[in-house]
Amino acid sequence: MSEEVRWSHKPFGGYHINGPLEEDVELTHVGPGTPCGEYMRRFWHPVAMTEQLGDRPVPIRILGEDLVIFKDLSNRIGLLHRHCAHRRASLEFGRVEQKGIRCCYHGWQFDVDGTILETPGEPAESEIRQRICQGAYPVIEYRGLVFAYMGPPNLKPQFPFLDSFDIPDHEMIPYSIHSPCNWLQESENSMDPFHSVFLHGRVNGPQFPGLEHFVELPVVEYHKRPEGFVYSHARRQGDLVMMRFHDHITPNMAQNGGMFQRLDRPKIFGRTSLTKWVVPLDDTNSRKFGWRHFNDADEVLRQGDKSQVGWEKVDFYGQTAHRSDEERHANPGDWEAWTSQGPINIHKREYLGTTDEGVVMLRSKLKKDIRSVQRGKPIAHAEGSEDKPFHTYGGDTILRVPKDDSDDRALMRRLQREVMKVMFSADDHEGDDRIEYITREIVARFGEDAVRVDVK
Ligand code: FES
Ligand SMILES: [Fe+2]
Repeated sequence: MSEEVRWSHKPFGGYHINGPLEEDVELTHVGPGTPCGEYMRRFWHPVAMTEQLGDRPVPIRILGEDLVIFKDLSNRIGLLHRHCAHRRASLEFGRVEQKGIRCCYHGWQFDVDGTILETPGEPAESEIRQRICQGAYPVIEYRGLVFAYMGPPNLKPQFPFLDSFDIPDHEMIPYSIHSPCNWLQESENSMDPFHSVFLHGRVNGPQFPGLEHFVELPVVEYHKRPEGFVYSHARRQGDLVMMRFHDHITPNMAQNGGMFQRLDRPKIFGRTSLTKWVVPLDDTNSRKFGWRHFNDADEVLRQGDKSQVGWEKVDFYGQTAHRSDEERHANPGDWEAWTSQGPINIHKREYLGTTDEGVVMLRSKLKKDIRSVQRGKPIAHAEGSEDKPFHTYGGDTILRVPKDDSDDRALMRRLQREVMKVMFSADDHEGDDRIEYITREIVARFGEDAVRVDVK
């Protein structure tokens, strides 16, 4: 069979659409030297949870590389190539020292930056220590996650400090979940607002308390940014229009709105409940790392459960493999959807429709950036600092805008564009000042009624 897709237009035509087709190597292969692997190595990624780091070094696999991560007795974190520079014994069996780690086989000692501190079996005059280093990567520990940069040292970007890393009154709890499939299919799920209508609503009934209105087909607006996308989806309930904004920062980071929401009153610039990265372990395994945000204002229903957030768990439906086979088949969730696309989804086998606009935009931007890296051109990074964080927009805004005689879907489209414009125009402001500015502008454009809260 040729590599061309052959679509059968006839019933019982399965025979015509069989045959091997290659995966999209450019987007899905992440090992050293691959186009996507090189692109991915231009960003900081979370690679471990702090809670994984105990007395012993931990073997991990990131971007197809076998590594070992540990905290030395001086409380510094090291991320080293797993196989010892001497004769490649695994440092997962090494001994954590005051300074770095010592290989179990012949006792070589490595600092967290890969410097060889001791080669005890070699003669005193040996220069082997000065000539080589163990492979090592810089790390930053932040709020229970360990981030690493695995690219060329001279191209290391600023740590991506986002405004959502430090929202007042948000308690952030780290979590991590494995998926036995390519990173892209899990990441694409975040650029596909239409799956919520079916997977989380119509097919087996609503899966998220407070988000029952997801069963309605939304009006979706996408905004391209140099660092990724912001998109929103809007639905009406009576006089209220709920707009849920999502951030998708390429390559692999996303934020959505409140997990346990309530659509019964206006709300301005609600913030995210989830900040997450899909990190490729290799071509056919990925691991989500992120934080669940707990905050009463953004999770009005208070149905979150902090005890269910951590290693291999998060407190909302269908995100892990750890459910009974019966339950997974009776009411599959996101995890079943993206892992069941296969170890690496074959894009040539897909038949994309209008609901896939976000996925198409994401793939196209990734390819553009991957090719820029290959040509040695710069790519945009979400760079920010604690003083001047990178702005994100994920969260919910609900306004009272009654139906009029015009096409209601067109009205919701206009509304989302206007609100997005207001949020972007607030980019010069920080913290409370930013919220006040957004509130003032929304009232100026839509009137006091749009934001009036009738407390029931
Ligand atoms: S293999 Fe590590 S010291 Fe020899
Ligand atoms: Fe989902």
